[in-house]
Amino acid sequence: MKIYVTENYEQMSKKAAGIVAANIQLKPDCVLGLATGSSPVGLYKELIAACDRGDLDFSQVRTVNLDEYAGLAPTHDQSYRYFMQKNLFDHINIKRENTNVPNGLAEDYEAECARYDKLIREEMGGIDIQVLGMGHNGHIAFNEPSDTFASGTNVVTLTESTINANARFFESRDDVPRQALSMGIGDIMRARMIVMVVSGAEKADAVKAAFEGPITPQMPASILQVHPNVVVVGDKAAMSKLSVK
Ligand code: GLP
Repeated sequence: MKIYVTENYEQMSKKAAGIVAANIQLKPDCVLGLATGSSPVGLYKELIAACDRGDLDFSQVRTVNLDEYAGLAPTHDQSYRYFMQKNLFDHINIKRENTNVPNGLAEDYEAECARYDKLIREEMGGIDIQVLGMGHNGHIAFNEPSDTFASGTNVVTLTESTINANARFFESRDDVPRQALSMGIGDIMRARMIVMVVSGAEKADAVKAAFEGPITPQMPASILQVHPNVVVVGDKAAMSKLSVK
């Protein structure tokens, strides 16, 4: 695991975007795993700017997003499909048909999870580079603290902590969906490279537990300790409790 500590959110975003951009340049038809939340927004802004300058070409890139809220339409302004359109896809030269987000309106969620896994594993040949954020409780994608690590895409019930953290994006806490469709830990761990962005003092305890604590499904991000190719880019507030400086 490589850990980069940056001065602030902006520097974190630039550093992480540089790593992602280099990988797209090396493999223009790469499969890019994408995340939502406030952590990667700056990274996406940097990728948009690089595309505007003509330094990055997304015409052959295929993407697969980590997760989607159950019950939200793609047009709902808090759906992750909508988030990706507004924060990245609408501003770069990617083909809409090359972008994938789980279908939050699927009639049969189990079948949708199976379809998504098949898409990632068989049709896309796995993920080349996965962008990740981390929840306050150490969740990655929507894999919440649990007794086991989920392997494939699954329907998850959000914890109170996650509902509270994400309520800021909705009109009221009651509007936050209670379930989501999320790539599993196994899907994420099979990505050939992982770039995590983490920012802010409120993540410092989770960062410490995830990267210097025991590997346990109660701290889902801790599994990244055994991935062979992980880069964590965090601002100094998020990384402040790590004993390795
Ligand atoms: C959501 C997403 C995660 C994300 C997390 C942290 O729960 N499902 O993929 O990492 O939020 O979000 P933020 O970056 O806003 O702290």
